[in-house]
Amino acid sequence: MRLMELKQKHLLGIEHLSADEIEYILQTAESLEEISKRDIKKVPTLRGKTIVTLFLEPSTRTKTSFELAAKRLSADTLSISKDASSFKKGESLKDAAKTLQAYRVDAIILRHSASGAAEFLSKQTDASVINAGDGCHEHPTQALLDAYTIKKKFGKINGLKIAIVGDILHSRVARSNIFCLTKMGAELSVVAPPTLLPVDVEKLPVKVAFGIEEVLEESDVIYLLRLQAERASENHFPSIREYRRLFGLDADKVKKLKPEAIVMHPGPINRGVEISSTVADLARSYIEEQVTSGLAVRMAVLYLLVGGSS
Ligand code: NCD
Repeated sequence: MRLMELKQKHLLGIEHLSADEIEYILQTAESLEEISKRDIKKVPTLRGKTIVTLFLEPSTRTKTSFELAAKRLSADTLSISKDASSFKKGESLKDAAKTLQAYRVDAIILRHSASGAAEFLSKQTDASVINAGDGCHEHPTQALLDAYTIKKKFGKINGLKIAIVGDILHSRVARSNIFCLTKMGAELSVVAPPTLLPVDVEKLPVKVAFGIEEVLEESDVIYLLRLQAERASENHFPSIREYRRLFGLDADKVKKLKPEAIVMHPGPINRGVEISSTVADLARSYIEEQVTSGLAVRMAVLYLLVGGSS
């Protein structure tokens, strides 16, 4: 059973995926992870396919992870970024889509500062569109790689207590993770100052806490978010010091965690703000594992959406 057979051509978000579809992507990732452990880290699965990364917002790990995933599956890759393309001259997404359409590319992986950009692009092209982060909306492969990391560590997601801490309001990672982890049966808490919570937070299937101390002892996973200076247009809390005191994780607070509990962060981290340098480097900090999972999950998504008929 391929995702295309499940009537998915694009991956625009987690919101409209079922728990079975998520599980299926995670299982596919599990079977592809082994390729990256081989001496020759490449299979011919997507040979002859062309995959474009169109990143109109800065990114290190998501872009490199997708590019590496495509290369490990033998696809041809094209990389377009804002500063080195006609986007700098004001080219629209619609016109870029037309150009790429003329080359008959098979998939476009889009990062854009506007919520809804991936859905817009999907209507302008015959290629599969994969959302690699659109404004404050969704970042589906981040949530999938997080779910994969958690499942690998605990053997399950169902019933785990997971707390997402930080700027829930501006975070596409938080939104996708809330959809993904609740569909997979986790008990979710969001921890943030009231000013960094969405107005309709009570409609979400999550508990709300206003300080990290409230969730330390009970959580299996503490998921820290980066404070998003580029999206916060006004001051949402008194000071960085205050934020660190109430929502940051440091060596003292980490002692209150259960022995098996892990710390996660999508990166890039602000050392000394949401996570202290000591905590970032602890064995229970799974940031590097998340990057490793990212490669396997993105290989799975490309495989399921772009082809792999053999
Ligand atoms: C996230 C993003 O860009 O949404 N980073 C990422 O993809 N690894 C989170 C963030 O920027 O804070």
